[in-house]
Amino acid sequence: GNDMISKKDGILHIDGYKIEEIAKEYGTPLYIMSETQIKSNFDKYTQSFDRYTKETGKEVIFSFAYKANTNLAITTLLNKIGCGADVVSGGELYIAKLSKVPSSKIVFNGNCKLVEEIKMGIEADIRAFNVDGISDLILINETAKEMGKIANVAFRVNPNVDPKTHPKISTGLKKNKFGLDIEDGTALKAIKMAEEMENVKFVGIHCHIGSQLTQIDPFVEEAHKLMEFIVTLKEEGIEVRDLNIGGGLGIPYDKNTEIPVQADLAKAVIDTIVSYSDKIELPNLIVEPGRSIVGTAGVLVGKTIHRKETKVANWIMIDAGMNDMMRPAIYEAYHEITPCTIRDGTEEVLNIAGGLCESSDVFGKDRTIPTIKVGDYVAVLDVGAYGISMANNYNSRGKPAMVLTNEKEINLIRERESLADLIAKDIVPNHLL
Ligand code: LLP
Repeated sequence: GNDMISKKDGILHIDGYKIEEIAKEYGTPLYIMSETQIKSNFDKYTQSFDRYTKETGKEVIFSFAYKANTNLAITTLLNKIGCGADVVSGGELYIAKLSKVPSSKIVFNGNCKLVEEIKMGIEADIRAFNVDGISDLILINETAKEMGKIANVAFRVNPNVDPKTHPKISTGLKKNKFGLDIEDGTALKAIKMAEEMENVKFVGIHCHIGSQLTQIDPFVEEAHKLMEFIVTLKEEGIEVRDLNIGGGLGIPYDKNTEIPVQADLAKAVIDTIVSYSDKIELPNLIVEPGRSIVGTAGVLVGKTIHRKETKVANWIMIDAGMNDMMRPAIYEAYHEITPCTIRDGTEEVLNIAGGLCESSDVFGKDRTIPTIKVGDYVAVLDVGAYGISMANNYNSRGKPAMVLTNEKEINLIRERESLADLIAKDIVPNHLL
């Protein structure tokens, strides 16, 4: 959960600071991230997976899914506390390198890696490319050959497991575009191909079945299928160095529902994996969490500009909008919304909207929350993952500023975009001038 964000006496705090005061100082819309919360979320991972190393002597590597949040301060912080990087583009690899992530902790995912990106990964000598298809493998091998190098490859397999999450963020079913099918033999065939190739080195198996998983069973099913596959590979004389189980652990967006935490994931997965210890030499473990490291650490603050009362609903309009945080608009995602300061004991049913010209620019509907008046600051919670990283400039709105808090200080970690930033890349041809 987000224990660094509290509602003492009806006033929303982050790391002990009043959120409203930070918003007044830095302006709105504003992302605020808690360094303390990120560290605590990450510590829970290292603590609960520690057992694997103790019992097996094998490494456990955490590679933060950069797509969840690539702010350079956040990625630098994560590197400092020992977290690696799961990157999916040349851009993310560039940021990982700037954050000084050691190459042994960088993995490269994606179903459509470009030659330029593959080159960057080979140049950086990353731990593994997670190969998503046979032509992806061929392209990596050819690129490495051209460079006179050898690329480390792991294979993303599709285990056909239902993650029981939102269809738009499910990835491990046969109908999804990702990975190589285990059941029909494609994965094995691809790995055998790799063994014959001169410029790739087979290092492991990878799998990611989906995001915002709220149950543990799918992870257990995934782990079993992966281990069975590793046994099959052993029978073929192929050793697996790394097993990457992907990310996907959910966070409690809705505080009324209990969902599994890092320790539950670790226990279930480790129990499953070690149950194969008499059959095979156990692999190193790689985990690629995104949301569960940064999600609960972020809030988005907007200021109430208008209220509108119609026959159907009471609306408040805030200066943050769907361009700052897309999740409610595109996945109908639920995020808790609360005024930063609760005025009195009164509550009302409100719709909370942004100011973009789209009907889907609504952060929450029919929310029973404390009364909000014009001028009040409003916080959208649990936006540290897939918030700023999915922000855009729709309606020619600059992306918001972002600050990072800890118990000692508050630092600006992203400048608010200016008007000039909005057209910085546009070019008007001469004949129009
Ligand atoms: N590894 C791979 C290969 C992935 O594709 C993803 C996320 C992760 C790891 C990290 O998953 P996490 O631990 O964050 O669940 N924009 C959506 C989420 C898309 C997730 C895509 N892949 C959202 O806002 O819910």
